[in-house]
Amino acid sequence: MQVKVDVLVAQLCYGGNGGVATIIPEVGDWLTSMALKAKDDPRIGRLVKRRYGDVPLTMERNRIVRDAIEGGFDMIVMLDSDNAPDLYLGQRPWAKPFWETSFDFAFERLKRGLPTVVAAPYCGPNPHPAYGGESTVYMFYSQGYSNRPQNPGFRVEAYSRDHAAQMRGLQEVMAAPTGCILYTTSALELLQFDKRPIVEILADYKNGKLSAEQCQRQIQMQSYFFYEYTNQWQTAKASTEDVTNTREIGMAGQLKFGEPVVFANWDAWAGHNKPEMIGMPEPIRMEQVSAVYQEAVLKGISAFEHIEDVDFLGGRKPSPAEYEAAASKAFQVDDEPVESEAPETTEPGPEIKARMICGRKMNSVGHVTPDVDLDALTAMAKNDGKRNQGRSLRMLEVGSWVGESAVALLGGAPKDSKIWCVDHWQGCPSDWTSHLAQQVDVWDWFVKNTEDLIGESIFPVKGESVQAAKDLGESQELDLIFIDADHEKASVLADIRAWLPHLASNGVLCGHDYCAEFPGVVEALEEFLGPLGLTPSRIHGSKVWFVTKAAIDRARADLVVKTATMADPTIAANQA
Ligand SMILES: C[S@@+](CC[C@H](N)C(=O)[O-])C[C@H]1O[C@@H](n2cnc3c(N)ncnc32)[C@H](O)[C@@H]1O
Repeated sequence: MQVKVDVLVAQLCYGGNGGVATIIPEVGDWLTSMALKAKDDPRIGRLVKRRYGDVPLTMERNRIVRDAIEGGFDMIVMLDSDNAPDLYLGQRPWAKPFWETSFDFAFERLKRGLPTVVAAPYCGPNPHPAYGGESTVYMFYSQGYSNRPQNPGFRVEAYSRDHAAQMRGLQEVMAAPTGCILYTTSALELLQFDKRPIVEILADYKNGKLSAEQCQRQIQMQSYFFYEYTNQWQTAKASTEDVTNTREIGMAGQLKFGEPVVFANWDAWAGHNKPEMIGMPEPIRMEQVSAVYQEAVLKGISAFEHIEDVDFLGGRKPSPAEYEAAASKAFQVDDEPVESEAPETTEPGPEIKARMICGRKMNSVGHVTPDVDLDALTAMAKNDGKRNQGRSLRMLEVGSWVGESAVALLGGAPKDSKIWCVDHWQGCPSDWTSHLAQQVDVWDWFVKNTEDLIGESIFPVKGESVQAAKDLGESQELDLIFIDADHEKASVLADIRAWLPHLASNGVLCGHDYCAEFPGVVEALEEFLGPLGLTPSRIHGSKVWFVTKAAIDRARADLVVKTATMADPTIAANQA
């Protein structure tokens, strides 16, 4: 006879707990397609979808489990409000659908009487730029303290990003996240609770029936999901409810069956819908490794061998003096002082200072963009190039002065990239650069600095910013737009609003001088991004801010849903 299972699909919605429930449209779409696939599956009896709130999360998860047990369901699928299942399906050759692969696996094990938990891996939110680093992977293995039997302790460790990026298939894990997860109800029933009053549990400890550890555990583990804290005031968490739940199930399963019960479905990475979509870590690909290393790997040369010796003296072993002389000659170019092209004049005017930017000799004229900010721009373009698989970029900057930032951006961007430089070269009406522009021909210096690039990779657009954006008409689908013209709040806002339509959907909007010294920039960004629930990111240590077009579009779409839902609560219900 065909075995049939009943499945409860629990969708956790934003709010929803007595308030207005909202969901991300893609999550609703995923659930619909899952339901359509499950409908015709002869292994499934009942498939019931229920909506739950997402606060307090621990309570809602316990409620889902109780509903499933009391309703006689065999399996539960939990889907969090901010989860994006199957983020890579159809995009990566290895990606497999979460529902089908997890259900097949759990179903086969259920037939053998084995409980199962299968979770999709995903990453936590990106850390604040001020702290640096990358987001952590939400999937955990057990790290043994020692292989000596007298010290069998272990701790729960998150997979490193590099390790996680290389994992494939269904693999046993120590603990898992619950954003997109399938449980057999039997797995949750492995958790045994002592529901007696606490005084009775304590009495058992006193009369020796329970050890101190057992007693503490019975008191702490009062339901399927619970938090653990690092102190008795519960001001800092040690483990969240997903980790404690799956960890306890895994250990109980090992004790009862001597087999793993909790698995990661590494072929079905999910996304995490935070202010920006958090995807999986990427292993370093061959094309990202420098040409020298590629050559070494392809030739099978190990790290201890030289690819090529630097031969200063035609193969002769040099004496120390010869070596030094040859070496200093070889590096002479870098040591050469850069000469300024300032005209020889005694007339007062802006200071003209020669400097190197991305290997190019440039002249700063009065206004000097700090190295740290130019480096940040180079890094931003480099990163954007990588995101676009190394294809050439189409960039635009509003406010170029003498071309320093344009050269820095081009310096990081892939080969054949282009930048359009929009400026009237008259300085900013709100600051001293407009006075400088009366003393010196800024356009002339821009040309001097970039002459050989004009028409090749630099395309000056002489005119007023907002008008230039209008004149371009239809969206130019640019990869990167850098805003650095007048820093008054109204001007920054006008520039952002005028140029944003010209940004491609996966493009980056960035700008300069996000700092206390320029309150206009900070206020403009607050006014533009605040209502969308976004804040700009800042490149660590610099005054360069950025936000992706994707984040803006997603936030705008959310806002439309929220506004519509507030006006008509049935919309949320229908969408769910
Ligand atoms: C701070 S400077 C740009 C510096 C440059 N991005 C760099 O870091 O090398 C500002 C520039 O914006 C230009 N500008 C200011 N308001 C403008 C507007 N409304 N339209 C066009 N250009 C403008 C000024 O002429 C000036 O060259």
